[in-house]
Amino acid sequence: MNLTTPRLLIRNLEQSDNLAWLEIFSSKNVAKFLTKVDNIDEINKLIDKKIEKYKKNPGGNYSVILKENNKVIGNIDLKINGNVGEIGYVFNDKYWCKGYCTESCRAIIDYCFSELKLCKICADCVKTNFASIHILKDKLGFKLIREEHKYNTTFAFFELTK
Ligand SMILES: CC(C)(COP(=O)(O)OP(=O)(O)OC[C@H]1O[C@@H](n2cnc3c(N)ncnc32)[C@H](O)[C@@H]1OP(=O)(O)O)[C@@H](O)C(=O)NCCC(=O)NCCS
Repeated sequence: MNLTTPRLLIRNLEQSDNLAWLEIFSSKNVAKFLTKVDNIDEINKLIDKKIEKYKKNPGGNYSVILKENNKVIGNIDLKINGNVGEIGYVFNDKYWCKGYCTESCRAIIDYCFSELKLCKICADCVKTNFASIHILKDKLGFKLIREEHKYNTTFAFFELTK
């Protein structure tokens, strides 16, 4: 899959994205919300696993590339079950707060509804991930469906219907 937005290119994850992943997942800011990975062998294994996973799932894992410097700055995961998608994202913290996550998610959401004909997209994050909640609720129009307390954390679950 290939998508283009004014500032970004979105394409399938490739093994050669490993150094970009290392930069993303070794950041202490990202580690506040996702497991920190700062070892290239671990990163290579994770990428292999992702690529394998999406040989069996109709969704995909996508790298987000900044057109101006051709750099992989983010990753979007789209898992599909029937006609429901589940989206997750992570971006390089050097590029946060420039609208890149919102811009790429809008393109993926449009692709989900218009090309893949999904009827619903779900997303979740910890309740204190205020940036993610702002993106989902205020910028992308997701609705908060429920909250769930597990692993000593409260998670917020969101849905977007066409
Ligand atoms: C969530 C994440 C992907 C956002 O990426 P991004 O490219 O910075 O997102 P955008 O620039 O499109 O939007 C960020 C918005 O959040 C806002 N924001 C940032 N920090 C915030 C905070 N602490 N509280 C409230 N809003 C915040 C920004 O101001 C911006 O909103 P605005 O455009 O209205 O000003 C990035 O922070 C990230 O990778 N976080 C770690 C991984 C993660 O949390 N993934 C999601 C849950 S699994």
